[in-house]
Amino acid sequence: MSARPIAYLAGIGSGIPAEVMTNHDFAAVGIETSHEWIVERTGIVERRIARGAGESTAGMAATASRIAMERAGVHAGEIDIIVLSTASPDRLLPSTAVDLQAELGASRAAAFDLSAACSGWLYGLTVAEGMIMSGVAETALVVGSEKMSSIIDWSDRATCVLFGDGAGAAILKRSTDGRGILSTYLRSDGTLADLLYRPDGGARRPFDADVLAERGQYVHMAGREVFKHAVRSMADAVDRALDGAQLAASDIDLLIPHQANLRIIDATAKHARMPMDRVYVNVDRYGNTSSASIPIALDEAIAAGRVGKDSTVLMVAFGAGFTWASMVARL
Ligand code: UT7
Repeated sequence: MSARPIAYLAGIGSGIPAEVMTNHDFAAVGIETSHEWIVERTGIVERRIARGAGESTAGMAATASRIAMERAGVHAGEIDIIVLSTASPDRLLPSTAVDLQAELGASRAAAFDLSAACSGWLYGLTVAEGMIMSGVAETALVVGSEKMSSIIDWSDRATCVLFGDGAGAAILKRSTDGRGILSTYLRSDGTLADLLYRPDGGARRPFDADVLAERGQYVHMAGREVFKHAVRSMADAVDRALDGAQLAASDIDLLIPHQANLRIIDATAKHARMPMDRVYVNVDRYGNTSSASIPIALDEAIAAGRVGKDSTVLMVAFGAGFTWASMVARL
């Protein structure tokens, strides 16, 4: 929690892959599902799939970052740290953040990946804020970038219809005028890790023929359990961020929840007593883009004029780990 704004979001951008995959397109890849089922259970109509040249996790991150940098009036040489949140890194070693650094030419920056799944962008903002507070950094680039299509099991209809690809980024700078992050709340519960995870392919059980045969390298999820925890934790996180900022829901111009499922978004809005015209929803167009979902939504909300300078936003996320997080920020 911060008592006063230390850092503010000086520029936001997103990097959205060109290819659209609609619910109807699943039939062509042999998935037994229906547009009606997906819309009714999730609110998702279509998602983006990163297949184009340059649409790697680092590549989408670079697109989002360049826009955020331009809007913030920051050039690559000014960036002190790059925090890249991803559950779908391009390579396991080194980090995707260093590939992004090289692509941007941000030669002065210290770059690293952060693993907190769908909550990762809010975790990243909090880490960057702390580095600005401690004097380690003046200017930070915080990115959420995901190529979820590369880690989902395209033969599992219970998960493959849910996710999409994309990236969002923000430049975070020292606050001088009262705008910025007013409160943050971060939590995790590792006892529930196996409800949403990629079981194998890491150091505990490296890739081998058995892992591949068991499809252990892909995302596995106990959907109903995750749903219940998401609703409960996001409601709690809304309250904590409001308390931390000493604000009421009526002070919030726009609630930006993680975009995983319209029913979870509805429940979160209801708990916050926020009418849907003050809640941002784009899960219908992108599905769940994990840590990219909130920055993409914020970028769109600004572009649409839903929020602007001095607006107060409440962002709240939940994901694998479990991790959950919330933040109130004055833009
Ligand atoms: O970002 C991290 C956070 N992740 C989430 O927040 C995801 C949270 N979970 C969810 O959003 C929901 O649990 C799902 C959308 C994943 C699933 O919705 P549900 O209402 O919990 O459905 P279910 O998993 O209980 O499945 C209901 C039925 C099953 O059939 P039976 O056993 O009732 O005959 C499934 O086999 O729906 C079936 N089903 C499908 N049918 C058509 C599961 N996936 C599909 C599908 N198309 N794609």
